[in-house]
Amino acid sequence: MSPAIRIRPRRELRAVRRRRPHRCWGHLIAAPLWPMHGANLGTLLRTCDAVGACLAVPPFDWVDGALARGNTLRQPTCVHRVGNPVRWLSGERARGSRIMGVELAEEAIRLADLPAARQRTIVVLGHEADGIPVEALDVLDSVVEIPMVGTGLSLNVAVAGSLVLYKLAGLV
Ligand SMILES: C[S@@+](CC[C@H](N)C(=O)[O-])C[C@H]1O[C@@H](n2cnc3c(N)ncnc32)[C@H](O)[C@@H]1O
Repeated sequence: MSPAIRIRPRRELRAVRRRRPHRCWGHLIAAPLWPMHGANLGTLLRTCDAVGACLAVPPFDWVDGALARGNTLRQPTCVHRVGNPVRWLSGERARGSRIMGVELAEEAIRLADLPAARQRTIVVLGHEADGIPVEALDVLDSVVEIPMVGTGLSLNVAVAGSLVLYKLAGLV
């Protein structure tokens, strides 16, 4: 008897995927601007590819190395280098982008209530230990929080970013 559920084989998946990576649509940009662990950047890069987002990271040598190691995709994904996070976010905001923090914060929007992005949106992710730095909080237009019922204080930053990116992309 054949199983009730059939797993889609790789060749079938490849046939329905893009042949080339999306260009810089600039509609959604994941911004882990204060990263500590390279592995999280690799994970976020894969999510960016999956949802059609770009990734914005600081221009550090170790970040480039981490992205190269963590990139298991066949095609390169759009990566922006951001030297001064607060200045870059302020400039984006002045040009009309929505700056959305992903953080555990009072008055935050709950993930389930977050609509798909209708304008260029920068998704700001915090440092793995310290969160989003205080100096960047004033630049945020809004904050989204992912509810938790467990014992841990927070989620892994790549998991949190991926959940929010999927919601903003309208894919879940
Ligand atoms: C490990 S957490 C930072 C720790 C936390 N801010 C603290 O000081 O204990 C790293 C980042 O993941 C994101 N994050 C983790 N869990 C989250 C949640 N439940 N809701 C929203 N963002 C979350 C935030 O961007 C946060 O800055």
